Amino acid sequence: MAAIQWQAKEFSKRTEIPCLFCCDSEDIPLDADLASAIFRIFQEILTNISKHAGASNVKVKLSENDGWVFLEAIDNGRGIRESDMNKPGSFGIRGMRERCQQLGGNLYANGIPEKETCVIIQIPVNGKE
Ligand SMILES: Nc1ncnc2c1ncn2[C@@H]1O[C@H](COP(=O)(O)OP(=O)(O)OP(=O)(O)O)[C@@H](O)[C@H]1O
Ligand SMILES: [Mg+2]
Repeated sequence: MAAIQWQAKEFSKRTEIPCLFCCDSEDIPLDADLASAIFRIFQEILTNISKHAGASNVKVKLSENDGWVFLEAIDNGRGIRESDMNKPGSFGIRGMRERCQQLGGNLYANGIPEKETCVIIQIPVNGKE
């Protein structure tokens, strides 16, 4: 959790885009491999926001519920389109989704044109059953 929060802060410093972090539990105990997978996925989500979104604000929420850990990032940029996710030369989202699926979870990305993009990852806390 501290690492995600740190990353959000570094992102704000670097890009001058405010990035609000919130978490609804005290701490979420995670296996080190899972924690670092989430850290790397979050890195790519932020890279995409700085490269593509043209956003002026980002909100990040980390939460745990019923054996799942969720990371949600919403930016107020131009909004990802369905067709963006299948661009032939783009591997970021595809790679993140595959990584989530390997871990027994998934990634959802949804955009509202000229309003926002929401990316949610959901992974079981105890790894793949
Ligand atoms: N936060 C965002 N807001 C708006 N568009 C986005 C956002 N994130 C991704 N996109 C769009 O989705 C496309 C695919 O993203 P993806 O991360 O898969 O590839 P990429 O960033 O173009 O290349 P790379 O393989 O280096 O990650 C982007 O090219 C961009 O058009
Ligand atoms: Mg990318």
